Amino acid sequence: MKILVTKNKEEASQKAFKLLQTDIINGAQVLGLATGSSPLGLYQKMTSSSVDYSSLISINLDEYVGLKPTDPQSYHYFMEHHLFAQKPFAKSFIPDGSNLNATEVINHYNQILATYPIDTQILGIGNNGHIGFNEPGTPFDSQTHKVKLTLATINANARFFTSSKDVPTEAYTMGIGSIIKAKHIILLAFGEQKADAINKMINGKVTTAVPASALQQHPNITVILDKQAASKL
Ligand code: GLP
Repeated sequence: MKILVTKNKEEASQKAFKLLQTDIINGAQVLGLATGSSPLGLYQKMTSSSVDYSSLISINLDEYVGLKPTDPQSYHYFMEHHLFAQKPFAKSFIPDGSNLNATEVINHYNQILATYPIDTQILGIGNNGHIGFNEPGTPFDSQTHKVKLTLATINANARFFTSSKDVPTEAYTMGIGSIIKAKHIILLAFGEQKADAINKMINGKVTTAVPASALQQHPNITVILDKQAASKL
């Protein structure tokens, strides 16, 4: 693991942007994208740059079950608003949260991942060490699946909703097995509330109790932190 501790989000986002650029120059064609506040600075760098992403493919990690793509809380909406409206890709895939037929969504997404192997995966991390929506206990070889969100995740994500009662209780997510197949992973984490998960991810035992600990086995991962997220290392 390559670990970069930066002054702040701005510096971290700039570093992530540069790394992504280098990957693209070196031939990366499929980008794995994430939602949440952590990659927002990177998306701002991407939208304000002159880089053309229109020949690339993007594949997002996850989506809430039961939200239409037009729902402002959906990850479809998030990606459209923060990146795709300004920087369209040739094709952008996000699990279809409005389709309640889980088998159909899962098979379709696994097929997409098989067709377009991810070159560079952008990742955040949950306070409980989840990646995508792979909650503690998820097998490391998991493929796309439907998950029941933990109370910790529902509460952490309630800040984006009017109340925690409005947070969907289920999501479709790429599995840990699919995430760690990416050739390069860039993980971003900021703030004190991530410090424990970051320490366990880097220094802890490799265990399904901490989904992000699976990344210790990845041959090419760059972790970009601010001082607070790095404070327990
Ligand atoms: C959600 C997303 C994750 C993300 C996490 C952390 O649970 N499914 O992909 O990493 O939130 O979000 P944030 O970056 O806002 O802390």
